[in-house]
Amino acid sequence: LGKNITIAIDGPAGAGKSTIAKKVAEDLSIEYIDTGAMYRALTLKVLKLGLNPESIDDVIDTMKDTSIDFRNNHIYLDDIQVDKEIRENIINKNVSFIAQIKEVREGMVKIQQELARTKSIIMDGRDIGTVVLPDADFKFFLTASVEERACRRYKELLEKGESGISYEQIKEEIENRDRIDSTREIAPLTESKDAYRLDTTNKTIDECVKDIISIVKRG
Ligand code: CDP
Ligand code: CDP
Repeated sequence: LGKNITIAIDGPAGAGKSTIAKKVAEDLSIEYIDTGAMYRALTLKVLKLGLNPESIDDVIDTMKDTSIDFRNNHIYLDDIQVDKEIRENIINKNVSFIAQIKEVREGMVKIQQELARTKSIIMDGRDIGTVVLPDADFKFFLTASVEERACRRYKELLEKGESGISYEQIKEEIENRDRIDSTREIAPLTESKDAYRLDTTNKTIDECVKDIISIVKRG
């Protein structure tokens, strides 16, 4: 792999994007960029300020004096590391409202394109192959049944020792987010025609990583 490469990974929540992208990044010694974390960080800020995530003007104003950046694989919101906080369920519930806003997407896409400009990267999200990096060298669309995706997220919570939320609630939250993300007007979650589709339902993480690496190495 001589020149810079760009790999785009899209798909719904729990498909395995971030886990798999991280491993591919390690194997290929390239950088991983989690675009969902950026929308999550802005959501966290809006909620912390006590604002309504559905109030478009408030969200846009908030974004204007917010800094979001990545350092050593951690995400910083106004220079404070927020890796954990952005995974809370309250963020899951609200992030898709904020991610619908045109001005928010424009701002985020600009930052994302800049991050990808000068180095080899693998970036995951919802609109990477379609909007952020339409000329990516490789595009993958990861899927899995909603039951499997909810099950994976439920297991994660149990492992963290959180038991306040049921499998059914998680499944509903994921279905709700899928629906908002795929039906929004701007940059909806869609399977780009030129993406390799990878159904991860019955595959291990390592199998998925292997599949992607072999396609990338084949060139
Ligand atoms: O990890 P998970 O799949 O649950 O979500 P995520 O990738 O962290 O993304 C959280 C939310 O941000 C998604 O449900 C979308 O509403 C939004 N998002 C987006 O609109 N565009 C992206 N490129 C990435 C995330
Ligand atoms: O980023 P995204 O929301 O697409 O999914 P993720 O957070 O990477 O994966 C959700 C969970 O599924 C994680 O706990 C992964 O370890 C797990 N997973 C799995 O069990 N088997 C796969 N083939 C892919 C992911």
